[in-house]
Amino acid sequence: MSKMWAGRTDGVTEKLADDFNSSIHFDSRMYKQDITGSMTHAQMLAKQGIISQEDADALVDGLAGILADLQSGMLAIDMSCEDIHMFVEAELTKRLGDVGKRLHTARSRNDQVALDIRMYLREQIDLICGYVQELLAAITEKAETYKDAIMPGYTHLQRAQPITFGHHLMAYAMMLLRDLDRLGDCRKRMNFSPIGSCALAGTTYPIDREYEAEHLGFDGVCRNSLDGVSDRDFCAELLSDLSILMMHLSRFSEEVILWCSWEFRFVSLSDAYTTGSSIMPQKKNADMAELVRGKTGRVYGDLMGLLTTLKGLPLAYNKDMQEDKESIFDAVDTVKMCLQVFTGMLKTMTANRDAMKRAAQKGFINATDLADYLVKKGLPFRSAYKISGQLVGLCIEKNTVLDDLPLETYKEYSELFEEDLYQEIALETCVNKRTSQGGTSVASVEDQIAYVKTLL
Ligand code: ARG
Repeated sequence: MSKMWAGRTDGVTEKLADDFNSSIHFDSRMYKQDITGSMTHAQMLAKQGIISQEDADALVDGLAGILADLQSGMLAIDMSCEDIHMFVEAELTKRLGDVGKRLHTARSRNDQVALDIRMYLREQIDLICGYVQELLAAITEKAETYKDAIMPGYTHLQRAQPITFGHHLMAYAMMLLRDLDRLGDCRKRMNFSPIGSCALAGTTYPIDREYEAEHLGFDGVCRNSLDGVSDRDFCAELLSDLSILMMHLSRFSEEVILWCSWEFRFVSLSDAYTTGSSIMPQKKNADMAELVRGKTGRVYGDLMGLLTTLKGLPLAYNKDMQEDKESIFDAVDTVKMCLQVFTGMLKTMTANRDAMKRAAQKGFINATDLADYLVKKGLPFRSAYKISGQLVGLCIEKNTVLDDLPLETYKEYSELFEEDLYQEIALETCVNKRTSQGGTSVASVEDQIAYVKTLL
C-alpha cells in the first residue's frame, strides 16, 4: 500500500519494514487527544485566515463524527495505518474528500505527537492522583482503627522501641503525600503546548500558538520549536515519580508480606486478596503484595529504558522517540493497577493486636525508657544507658524481661530505682509519653491523621 507521505519516494514499503515502523498498536490509545488537538488546530487555521471557516467547520464536524463513531464502536481503528495520527487523517479524508487534506497545514506529526502525549499523560496523572488519594484514605482509616495497637518498632529489623500500628501506617501516608506533590509538579511542567513547533523550525503561516494552547487547557507554549518537538523530559520525570511511588508501594508490600508470615502473624489478609498453593494445603500467600513488589522492577525498567533511548539523541525529532510510548504507557497502566489492588488489599486487611503486643513485650524495647527513667532522676544519660544495658544482659542470662525483674535487683544497680519504674517502662507508657510532634503517642498519631485528612 502506498503511504500518505508518498512523494519523494513511491511510499511502497516492505511489510516487515511497515510492521517495524508502525506504532498504531500502542499509540491508538491517544485517539481522543489526537482528535481534540486536530479540532482546535482547524479552528485556529480558520481564525488566522489560513483556511476558510467553511472548511474548518467541515473538519471539526468530520473529526467529531470520527470520535463519536470510535467511542460507540461503529468505527474500528485500522491497524494497518502507521500511527493514530495517520489513521485519523486518512479517515477524515475518506469522509470529507479534499477538505480533509487541509487539516495538516502548519503542523507536523512531530509536534502533533508531542501534543498528544502531553494531553494523554496529564489526564493519566489526574487518574493516578485519584488512586493515590483513595489509598491515602484507606491508610488513614486503618491508622485510626489501630492508633492504640502496640507493636515493636524496628531498626535494622531488630526490635527497637514500641510504636503503634497506626503510627507505622501513617509513615506510608506521608510518603504518598510527597508522591502526590511530585506528580503535581510534573503535571505543571508538562502542561505547555508544543503544537506550532511544526516539524522543528516553526512555520511561515501566521499561526496563533497561544490560542491553541489555551483552548487545549495548557498553561503556555513551549518557547523553542526544536525543544518543543524533541523534549521528552516530562516522560522521564513522570517515570521517575512513578518509580518513587512504586518504591513506596514495594516497601509497604514487603512489610505486609513479612507481617503475614507465621513468624510475625501481625496481620491477616482477606481471602479475596490472597492465593493458595497448588500443592501445600496450608498456604495462604500474599501474592498481591508480592506482585506489587515485583512490578516495581518493571517500572524502574521503563524509566531506565526511556533514559537510555533519549541519551545521545541529536535535535530535533528522531524516530527513536517513538519508543517513549510503550514504556510510559506500561508504567502508567502498571501503577494504576498496583494502586487499586493495594488499596483493596489494605482495606480488607486486619491486624492481630495480641501478636503485635506479644512481640513488643519480648525484645527489651523498653530499655531506652528504663535509661530515661534514671535520667529523669538525675543520672547522666550515658551512665543510665550503661545500667539499662547491664540489666538487659542480666535478663537475657536469667531468661526474663525488664518488667519482671524484682525491685531489689534493680536497686543493686542503682539506688535511684523505685517502685514507679514498672509503670514507667510499661509499653503503654512508653508509647503514650512519646507526644513529641510526629511521635508514636495516640495523640501524635491523631494529629498526623488529621493533617492528612485536611489535605485530601
Ligand atoms: N509515530 C510517531 C511517534 O510516535 C509520530 C511522529 C512521526 N514523525 C515522523 N517524522 N516520522 O513518534
